[in-house]
Amino acid sequence: MDAQEVATLREGIAEKYRKVAMSPEGLFRYPTGEASARGLGYPPDLLAAVPHAIRERFVGVGNPFALGPISPGEAVLDLGCGAGFDALLAAQLVGPAGRVAGIDLSPEMLAVAETGRADAGFPQVEFREASVEALPFPDASFDVALSNGVLNLVPDKPAALREIFRVLRPGGRLQACDIGLVGDSLPPDKARWSD
Ligand SMILES: C[S@@+](CC[C@H](N)C(=O)[O-])C[C@H]1O[C@@H](n2cnc3c(N)ncnc32)[C@H](O)[C@@H]1O
Repeated sequence: MDAQEVATLREGIAEKYRKVAMSPEGLFRYPTGEASARGLGYPPDLLAAVPHAIRERFVGVGNPFALGPISPGEAVLDLGCGAGFDALLAAQLVGPAGRVAGIDLSPEMLAVAETGRADAGFPQVEFREASVEALPFPDASFDVALSNGVLNLVPDKPAALREIFRVLRPGGRLQACDIGLVGDSLPPDKARWSD
């Protein structure tokens, strides 16, 4: 991917998630929102503590919590956290002795996340504007990295994976859900990224 294609992709992502911050309705080809989260097996008791505005902006493609346990006191990084859905789920698992950081490129999605975090009262959670390819954290600072529907949008995947493994502690876990292409290329009518 050349520099111009990367710039076009980033502009497209910025524009799409500006709209999602208003409402995800009609913007995705897969199910979104609370009904999707329930279908993916997110525990209803944990969902209940997440503000409605965040639940309805859940646009993940899977349930990264089904990939392994998260324990009280752990430090969790939510990559491409969007409106903060998985971050606020993780906050309930790590408890007050733990820590959760969510990063995303979209300031509009992060604004929804921060308002919800403050309303729901999760002081152990912080949100920052950053790219997965350049994480603003020291080496070995997290036990778990979560990613839900994000890595497919990242142009430089080797850089993203280097950064994720840099900030994970030895023995840390990456719990990622994503979509992938089976075959060589998308059919032309599906090849526009925003589809
Ligand atoms: C499909 S949404 C998933 C959001 C959230 N994980 C969820 O499950 O609701 C993808 C998110 O990744 C963010 N994103 C895309 N590329 C990114 C990058 N390079 N670094 C950080 N965030 C990125 C987008 O802004 C968007 O919020």
